[in-house]
Parts: sequence; structure tokens; C-alpha cells
Amino acid sequence: MLQGKKILVGVCGSIAAYKSALLIRLLVKEGAEVRVVMTPSAASFITPLTLATLAKHPVYSEYFNEANGTWHNHVELGLWADLMVLAPLSANTLGKLANGLCDNLLCAVYLSARCPVYVAPAMDLDMYAHASTQANLQALLSYGNRVIDAESGELASGLDGKGRMAEPEHIVQAIQAHFAAERGTLKGKRVIITAGPTYEPLDPVRFIGNHSSGKMGYAIAEVMAGYGAEVTLIAGPTSLPDPPGIKCVHVMSALEMHASALALFPTTDIAVLAAAVADYRPATVAEQKIKKSEDEFTLTLTKNPDIAKDLGSRKEVGQLLVGFALETNNGLENAQGKLEKKNLDFIVLNSPSDEGTGFGHDTNRITILARNTKPKEFELKSKKAIAQDIVNEITTYLDR
Ligand code: CTP
Repeated sequence: MLQGKKILVGVCGSIAAYKSALLIRLLVKEGAEVRVVMTPSAASFITPLTLATLAKHPVYSEYFNEANGTWHNHVELGLWADLMVLAPLSANTLGKLANGLCDNLLCAVYLSARCPVYVAPAMDLDMYAHASTQANLQALLSYGNRVIDAESGELASGLDGKGRMAEPEHIVQAIQAHFAAERGTLKGKRVIITAGPTYEPLDPVRFIGNHSSGKMGYAIAEVMAGYGAEVTLIAGPTSLPDPPGIKCVHVMSALEMHASALALFPTTDIAVLAAAVADYRPATVAEQKIKKSEDEFTLTLTKNPDIAKDLGSRKEVGQLLVGFALETNNGLENAQGKLEKKNLDFIVLNSPSDEGTGFGHDTNRITILARNTKPKEFELKSKKAIAQDIVNEITTYLDR
């Protein structure tokens, strides 16, 4: 997906510099042409020879090439690149870039670059949280640079917290998303996404609901809109703000979500059904607040319509339907059953019992099942990164 793209990787002095080797390898594997610029201190953490071998090109770190008396032209390098990524970005270099300092080749290339610049900071948690670091990151954002947020976990200091450089796979995803957005990969595609829970009213003040946060569906909506799609989000009650540039239809109950989805589906190219729709609703809704009386109270529930199944039965050639399956047991078997029963093209399986997954968590682990292909497993990732994987599967499928 990065075939022929010219990518300049800037490496700073940080323990995370070892991960830049993997980043370069992944970029080259994706078909990118890679050049590497290191700060002088980066070489204390990873050898230029390693990075040059992986990039298949000598690494730049000094203005002057003493061997043949030539100088490395930072302007040329800055103009050559389609995209520059600084990974890892150390606190020191961040401070320099935020203030326009230029005492090494990397800073000069950054100042000369006309292409989009991504930075992946890496530092200890207190350094990362420090007001000056955050102000410097804000300064880079204000210059139009993009920040690939640091991730949480065990740090080189032994402390635990936010500051680890984003995993190389996540940086590559951000770069792929950048070019996919630039190409407008989903331009002209009309997409509906259901997200969040549904609330099934019982009386004027009570409902039956579930813990779905809506984060997964919202993240998919943002990625697809970034790829140029015209997205309508049909959202159950969540605390999330409306994502900018996305049309949001707010609904409460499964019946309302069903009505909205069915109304929009005839003019939809892709439907992603990420909502945790209540399977049943109270058979009657009391007009007044139900009073407590007997020791036991029996509630009669009636089945809600299955939005996914109803869209599946109306699906026409050229329409793509993606569903989710939340399974606590027999995941693959149950998901495969839903794929067929609801006439879906893909189903994204997740298991709330896996550590770090499910409602309310920011991370998830998924398996994608498609028709006539082997299930594809993904590792535990942030919901944003998962959204990227799902959308990449969709675009690859559409390209076939
Ligand atoms: N779904 C839907 N409408 C419903 C129920 C589910 O659109 N009334 C969609 C979900 O958004 C998801 C897929 O169907 O994309 C599977 O949802 P899930 O709750 O896992 O499956 P159910 O069909 O409800 O089966 P069960 O609860 O028995 O596992």
C-alpha cells in the first residue's frame, strides 16, 4: 500500500531507536523507498549500519561526508520526501523543532521539508507529561505536523505509564491512512455505521440498556471519513461528541435505529453494524412511572428486529455489509453462523472475556471472518488502530 512512496525516517537519541529498525523494515516491505536521517546521539542507541542495511541506502547524520569531501544537502532531502516521520522523537529534538533550532542535519531537513511531517514521541512518563513537552507538541501541531501519540506500558526506566513510542505497526498504519486519505480511497462511497448501545424504554424514567461505549463504531466512522467516504453515523446513546465532518443521526431504541438504517440503506454502498443492539424490548411501555408493589416483578419482553439481518436480506450487488459478533464462547463457530444467517460480507469477532477487550476498554482484539477465506486474527490494539485494520480490510476487498 506504500508502493513507490518516498519516506524520510528521522531517528533521535532514545532507547526506542531500536524500534526504528522494525519501522524501516515494515515501510520497505510495504513498497516504500526509505531514506534515514539520524541525530548524532541516535547512533549511540542503534548503529547506522543496521538502519542503512534495512533502508538499502546509506544513512545521513552529518552535514559533511568526510570520505569524499561532499556535503549532504538537507534541502534536497526535504524536497525528495513524500512524507517525513520522526520516530522516535526525543524530548530534546522536540524542543528544538518547536523553537526552530537547527544544530544538526535532522533539524535542518525538518525545517526544509515541504511534505507532511509525522512525529512519534518517546520518553519517560514524567518527561512526556511535563507541561513543556505538551506545549512543544502543541506547537508542532500548530505548525501542521501530525503527532502519533505515545502509548502506555512499561518504560525503559522501569516505570509504567504513557511515553512509549507507538508500535512500528501503528506508525505504518498512520502513514497508510495518510496516503489513503490523500488518494480519497473511499471518495464517493456512502457509508452508514451503527454504533453504541440501544436503550429500550420501560416507563418514562427507566430503560434496559447495555455497557457499549460506541468507541469502536465512532473510530471506524472517523477513519472512513478520513478516506473520503460520506459517512452517516446512526448512534445510540453515548457520551461521545459528534465527530467533526460526520453526519450523526441520534437514536435511542432498537426500533429507531432499525428505522433509520432501513431508510438510508437503499442509497448506501457500505454498512458497518457496530452497535450493540438490544435483542429484546419491554412488551409494553408504561405511561407513568411503575410503582413498586409486589415482592416479585415480571417483565415481558418482545423481540426487536435484527437490523443486520434485515439489511442482509435487502442487500444488492455492489453493497457491502459488515457486522460484529460479540461472543463469550465458541467464537469462530458462532461468528461464522451469523455471517451466513445475516448475509454479511465480513464479520468482526471480538470476545469480551479476553483481557483488555470489550465494552468501555480502549483496546480490543479481533478476528475478521469473510466469505470463503481463512479467519484473520489481529493482536490486541487500541480501538483506533483496530478501526484502521477493519477499514483497510474493506478497502482491500473493494480493490479486488
Ligand atoms: N445486530 C443488529 N440488530 C440486532 C442485533 C444485532 O443489527 N437486533 C447486529 C450487531 O450490530 C452485530 C451483529 O448483528 O453487527 C451481531 O450482533 P450480536 O449481538 O453478536 O448477535 P445477535 O444476532 O444479537 O445474537 P446473540 O445475541 O444471540 O449472540
